[in-house]
Amino acid sequence: MQPKGNFHVLRWWLIFSSLLAPFCYLVGLIATQKTGPDPGEFITRFTGEWALNMLVVCLCITPLNQLMGWRWTVKYRRMVGLYAWFYATVHLAAASLLVLDVEILLEDIVKRPYVTVGFIAFIILTLLAITSPKPMVRRLGKRWKTLHKGIYLASLLVLIHYFWLTRADYTDPIIYSTLVALLLAYRLFRALKQNIQRQHNPLRSS
Ligand code: HEM
Repeated sequence: MQPKGNFHVLRWWLIFSSLLAPFCYLVGLIATQKTGPDPGEFITRFTGEWALNMLVVCLCITPLNQLMGWRWTVKYRRMVGLYAWFYATVHLAAASLLVLDVEILLEDIVKRPYVTVGFIAFIILTLLAITSPKPMVRRLGKRWKTLHKGIYLASLLVLIHYFWLTRADYTDPIIYSTLVALLLAYRLFRALKQNIQRQHNPLRSS
């Protein structure tokens, strides 16, 4: 194999295992019974937070590419997005099996707003995960891009979910919201700039 090829494989594995590391750490904590007095709550919070972390990393990729010229990061966006879905799935499983009850959860989707928004966010992430393979990208064409902007909506819903279930210390949800707001503002600013450029010079598309 070419040295360049080796480097790409190594980088792929490094990124793959770094994203999996929090899950392995959680499994280690569960195996050694270090999840505190309420393991259900611990596992739910831990996986919820990591699902959100993955979403934020995913949203950072376009600005990193455009502002820093880190084009290679774009290749890993799908992997990060799938990890967001993975952590969200474990989070939902933990919430429904260890914190709430499956039956109560189904009622809660209608009754409790924080569960409703969390559930809608999860459905969006599932749609994005299903449509992430390359053949789906080709099949959906332009619609794929529009659909995948749903990541912003999912992130906003997760933040509402976070705020809604927080009872005392709002520091973390505020930090996450500020980050997501900045990333969203950047995308809106770029879109607006491109629109203005297109109006002034219709022959240029970027
Ligand atoms: C039907 C879907 C969902 C349900 C039922 C659900 C349920 C819960 C519950 C019960 C908690 C509080 C745990 C506790 O304090 O005991 C929680 C926290 C949280 N959830 Fe969800 N969730 C859902 C979807 C999501 C999704 C899709 C994400 C992210 C992608 C997410 C991210 C979070 C975060 C960040 C927290 C706060 C963690 C912390 O306090 O540090 N949730 N969720």
